Amino acid sequence: MQIGKAVQAAMNDQIHKELESAYQYLAMSAYFSSINQPGSASWMRVQGREELGHAMKFTDFVEDRGGTIVYRALTAPPTTFASPLAAFETAVQQEAMVSTSINALFELAAKEKDYASQALLQWFITEQVEEEKTSREIVDTLRLIGNNTSGLYMFDRELGRRGQAG
Ligand code: FEO
Repeated sequence: MQIGKAVQAAMNDQIHKELESAYQYLAMSAYFSSINQPGSASWMRVQGREELGHAMKFTDFVEDRGGTIVYRALTAPPTTFASPLAAFETAVQQEAMVSTSINALFELAAKEKDYASQALLQWFITEQVEEEKTSREIVDTLRLIGNNTSGLYMFDRELGRRGQAG
């Protein structure tokens, strides 16, 4: 069944959010590079690629259902942060915002009796639980570390291991 106009429009909005999210993570990666935290820079870059993957997952779905993709201009993301903690706090807020948006999209798909979209969105709902948890845990750890430079150094190295495992 071809995708309905309302769900198509909302998915295009979601694609835009995922792309802006990717853009934001890449900006955070650049920030971490600029303060010599290569592990966190790498973590952010891996996350940016994941967000691009999310945008492509929605794109493929809309196209598979005979819909149309409309890209819009991306907003330039903030590129400087007060601290590593502030950058990861931004990530937490961003993920919460994406979760709210995914939930609203699911509600719309349910209202429209669009079962295929609901199946796709189930995956995203589960993914968001994981993404929110991961970024929250990093914020919690950075709060514990505070201004301890050797702690920050070690944690940055730990974050850099993400992506090396796959
Ligand atoms: Fe695609 Fe992190 O939400």
